[in-house]
Amino acid sequence: MNDIKIAIASDHGGFTLKGEIYNHLKEKNYIVKDLGTYSLESCDYPIYAKKLCKAILDGEFEKGILVCGTGVGMAICANRFKGIRAANVSDTYSAKMSREHNNSNVLTLGERVLGKGLALEIVDVWLRSEFAQDRHLKRISMIDE
Ligand code: RB5
Repeated sequence: MNDIKIAIASDHGGFTLKGEIYNHLKEKNYIVKDLGTYSLESCDYPIYAKKLCKAILDGEFEKGILVCGTGVGMAICANRFKGIRAANVSDTYSAKMSREHNNSNVLTLGERVLGKGLALEIVDVWLRSEFAQDRHLKRISMIDE
């Protein structure tokens, strides 16, 4: 059991990939909760970004994954919330560095950008990478000042 609590959410554009990531995390015994959307019906990504970010800031989850068509809209929304550091990532190196240097607590992905295999690899790398602390701590604190 991986006892880190993860929330995942998407709009219709990220619905299918969200399901694949959810199943992948369940298979790896992560504690993961799907905050919606729950169908392919067209919906508004800011609703789901807000729901997930508020749940993280309330302490219900440590990390979140947001999926839309590109990951861009979700990242723009998520980064409006003080304390959320969302990284829109399309490669494993950036996934790792967004944890090590930026202590990202939200990962945003684009279903229309990434294939399933790469998306799952990015999720795995992001979840196992740790914040490097030291000089990066000061920089992280400067974001919220
Ligand atoms: C929905 O068509 C699409 O605009 C949305 O999923 C996302 O890509 C926005 O950034």
